Amino acid sequence: MPLTIGVPRETFPGEKRVATVPEVVEKLLKLGFAVAIERGAGEAANFTDAAYQAAGAQVLPDAASLWGSADIVFKVRPPSLAEVALMKEGATLIGFIWPAQNPELMQALVGKRATVLAMDCLPRQLSRAQKMDALTSMAGIAGYRAVIEAANAFGRFFAGQVTAAGKVPPAKVFVAGAGVAGLAAIGTAANLGAIVRANDTRSEVADQVKSLGGEFVRVDYEEEGAGAGGYAKEMSEGFKAAQRAMYAREVKDADIVITTALIPGKPAPKLITAEMVQTMRPGSVIVDMAAEQGGNCELTVPGEAVVRHGVTIIGYTDLPSRLARQASTLYATNLLRLAEELAKTKDGTIDVDFADDAIRGLTVIKNGEITWPAPPPQLPAAAPKPASATTLPAKPAAHGHGAGAPLAGGTLALLFGIGALLFWLVGAFAPTSFLSHFTVFVLACFVGYMVIWNVTPSLHTPLMSVTNAISSIIAIGALVQIAPPMGEAAAGERPDGWILGLAVLALLLTAINMFGGFAVTRRMLAMFRK
Ligand code: NAI
Repeated sequence: MPLTIGVPRETFPGEKRVATVPEVVEKLLKLGFAVAIERGAGEAANFTDAAYQAAGAQVLPDAASLWGSADIVFKVRPPSLAEVALMKEGATLIGFIWPAQNPELMQALVGKRATVLAMDCLPRQLSRAQKMDALTSMAGIAGYRAVIEAANAFGRFFAGQVTAAGKVPPAKVFVAGAGVAGLAAIGTAANLGAIVRANDTRSEVADQVKSLGGEFVRVDYEEEGAGAGGYAKEMSEGFKAAQRAMYAREVKDADIVITTALIPGKPAPKLITAEMVQTMRPGSVIVDMAAEQGGNCELTVPGEAVVRHGVTIIGYTDLPSRLARQASTLYATNLLRLAEELAKTKDGTIDVDFADDAIRGLTVIKNGEITWPAPPPQLPAAAPKPASATTLPAKPAAHGHGAGAPLAGGTLALLFGIGALLFWLVGAFAPTSFLSHFTVFVLACFVGYMVIWNVTPSLHTPLMSVTNAISSIIAIGALVQIAPPMGEAAAGERPDGWILGLAVLALLLTAINMFGGFAVTRRMLAMFRK
């Protein structure tokens, strides 16, 4: 019996998004599920009931019938307790949950013996999880919308212009925090023609800021801001003082300030003080994206746009919902990718498989038992950097007799003995020419093994492509055929036409393999460079 995915209408005041869209409904049906939506669920995002029906969804008249019949519920915002009361026993819920902030909701869901997958708990550091990363897709939309809100409140053009009526200077935008939302804001503001400057405590984002058309402004203080899992860490007092001085200069000079600074699990750092706001020109705009976490600006009022000292300060907490159609489509696609992971058999059933790190991280309740927080996922990627030049990373012991695991003294001596005996046998009985080839072969195996074993697993793919390139030893064979060695050429041995043709063809194909291999390696290694 295929399971039914139910999509209720969002009840949070002002929320316009919906958890699935008609084009995704068709793909969910292909996974074997049945899909039902509550009447008017997509209305605020401009998706009509008729469009859902045409895509194959059933339209149910109210929330009670939807929650009461759905085996899997797709939601955007965390459900209210009233909604949970309508939920079918043992059903699965997928959406934003924020378990740390919502203990009461978690208990209510446990009471329903539900299985709950929280999109906000996705282990984002897993590259496989990126297609399901709704936090990223929503933050990207919010960053874009922040610039549009700023443009709406700002009384001038973004791009500089020379008109018959006079010269208009370009707007100056300063972005504090260049995470997902900040980078989207930088790209959007630069595309509109503004001069964009940005700062972040993680210096690794400087190149990304530049590639999007912004200029990275550094704090005059030596301290790195990258902490665990690639997120920001709390900075020292010395750094904060130097950053305040720099922000005071940048904010005074800017027409528009967009703040997105966030350290997970901490209140938003207060970066823009009331005095800094006072130094801005009247008509300037601040968009404080961190309003929900207390705001990066001292004067922000969460959820509202207020004017202080002639500066409009926007603290909207529903930026993705203000682009409801786009946000719903991206969110629905994130949920579809998750559904594909859950329903690998494509027969309308799901398997919440804890062996899968991404699924494990997402699952906060399984069959009525709280499974949050999940243990951190096992990362196959690069080994952590040694703390100092003198500390060597621990070698993994799991490789058994690999180069990483030291062999016991006795085993080593035995191996050496066998090797020496083998060499003696070959030396005593095999022809001389074989011995030299054999020595080269053994040395090549040894060097190759040592080289590959010491490469970090995350670099194995570029290693394969470079091996592919150098495996083109065929080129040498082809060259020997085209131009035989001096002695043979002198003896008048010219290759016949066929051999020559095949050799040239081999050389051509090998050249593609070689240069292609090197080009791919270069591109892949560039991805690992900071
Ligand atoms: P993120 O974690 O990707 O980015 C935050 C950035 O702030 C990081 O790059 C971090 O290094 C930087 N940062 C931390 N402390 C800093 C400091 N003291 N100075 C300078 N930079 C600092 O987060 P994401 O996804 O980009 O979200 C940014 C903010 O936007 C969050 O507060 C999030 O809740 C909010 N947001 C707001 C929405 C709305 O509707 N208002 C919608 C979506 C996100």
